[in-house]
Amino acid sequence: MKVVFAQPGLPKSGCLAVGVLEGGLLTPSARELDAATGGALARALAASRFTGKADQTLDLLAPAGVGLDRIVLIGLGKADAVDARRLESFGAAALVAAEKGKGTELTLAVDVLAEAKASAPTLAAHAALGALLRAYRFDTYRTKLKPEDKPTLKTVTVTVSDPVAAKTAFAPLDVIAEGVSFTRDLVSEPANVLYPAAFAKIAKSLEKDGVSVEVLGEKEMAKLGMGSLLGVGQGSERESQLVVMRWMGGNPDDAPVAIVGKGVCFDTGGISLKPAANMEEMKTDMSGAAVTTGLLRILARRKAAVNVVGVIGLVENMPSGTAQRPGDVVKSMSGQTIEVINTDAEGRLVLADALWYTQETFKPKAVVDLATLTGAIVIALGTNHAGLFSNDDALSKMLADAGLEVGEPLWRMPMGDAYDELIKSDIADMKNVGGREAGSITAAQFLKRFVQPGQAWAHLDIAGVSWTKKAAATTPKGAAGFGVRLLERMIATHYESALPAAKPAKAKKTAKKGKK
Ligand code: BES
Ligand code: MN
Ligand code: ZN
Repeated sequence: MKVVFAQPGLPKSGCLAVGVLEGGLLTPSARELDAATGGALARALAASRFTGKADQTLDLLAPAGVGLDRIVLIGLGKADAVDARRLESFGAAALVAAEKGKGTELTLAVDVLAEAKASAPTLAAHAALGALLRAYRFDTYRTKLKPEDKPTLKTVTVTVSDPVAAKTAFAPLDVIAEGVSFTRDLVSEPANVLYPAAFAKIAKSLEKDGVSVEVLGEKEMAKLGMGSLLGVGQGSERESQLVVMRWMGGNPDDAPVAIVGKGVCFDTGGISLKPAANMEEMKTDMSGAAVTTGLLRILARRKAAVNVVGVIGLVENMPSGTAQRPGDVVKSMSGQTIEVINTDAEGRLVLADALWYTQETFKPKAVVDLATLTGAIVIALGTNHAGLFSNDDALSKMLADAGLEVGEPLWRMPMGDAYDELIKSDIADMKNVGGREAGSITAAQFLKRFVQPGQAWAHLDIAGVSWTKKAAATTPKGAAGFGVRLLERMIATHYESALPAAKPAKAKKTAKKGKK
């Protein structure tokens, strides 16, 4: 879909979305439209329950006096609460309304609102972002999609007083929208297509954007002593992979920020097999890795002046004659041993080695891991907030604030020795599950045992937010890409220098592979 910014003015065709403030207060563009249609808007307001509250919409078809097919009124709420997020919802709601028709053009009228929390160009850029994010679809495998079920929109035009400034503000947001779609595609792909080596190959394609990508196979990982990660993949026909992506756009002497992602391409539970109901959802168990990869792609594409490494552990958790058994003891790269009580608590086993490798290799400023780690976080927080666990208050605040700004909220969970007690093992340094109680916290305590002293670290449990069963403002149902925008914002706000980006790092050689 093409995005265009233009001067205010009534379009001659297509669908037009205008804002209405709480109390039925027409924005300037709504007023202009009302005049052009002989008061159609005022009549519609009088005849409906629409009051301009945030997220309300009112569809009007083909009013007399204008060439438009449809007009959609969208509630903006109170003027002094209008911000970038609200305009994202505005763009998204307009997109949904326009898609009910069969037109090719949507115009979003964005006004200068003196009380608003952001300038008109910023608001306009975010309206476009909202429309793009909501327009996402995953149709790769729908060969019988009927023409009437296909989207027809080709162009979104945003009218605003300063279209040049809006276009400039939109440039980085366009890159973000593309990165979120890329992440959503990865999450949506089925596991027969997106197995570890296939994922690694896609990650490798980031080299064309200037990311250096290194792929370690099982041989290399065995040499490094990654018995914890390798144990998870040992029941699978597919070779486990560790992918290391570096974007070095900052000062070469600066330690990077590290993002570590859980990439379980499919989680059957292993020998501790999951029940059949909804097991297909476990194709999304690589969401942490997908978010990490999408983030690196965005940073590279907008030549961010920052050093960020992304490390993803890619495995398939399968039951088979070679699979790991409950009771097995594995040795991690850190030297610590783990008694595997439940083979379905595999994410933490993958992250243990990926985290250790990341710290040993990069001595990062901060490490943030993302993982669809526990069903317990869905019980605790539901599907709106992701769980945040951290040993660092400043890093926690940076993440939580960024999450609020972009609409990916986090909720900080407690940690402590009392929880760590629960993963003591009788025969090894620890066990991989802590029992029914506080399941997300004991999982985080497990990860913390692989965080080196003094290392700032945060863990985001995204099990409840990665896949949505119901569409929300800027997220169609399905893969949300939760975490991409949050991390992008956090890095842009706190780690990116104002200096121009350095040359991207040169690509490194890829390790050879054994199994397919
Ligand atoms: N991938 C799952 C967690 C999950 C659950 C993600 C629901 C998305 C939606 C994880 O590997 C898992 O199986 N966790 C177990 C841990 C338990 C065995 C201690 C769980 O949550 O049941
Ligand atoms: Mn599992
Ligand atoms: Zn899992």
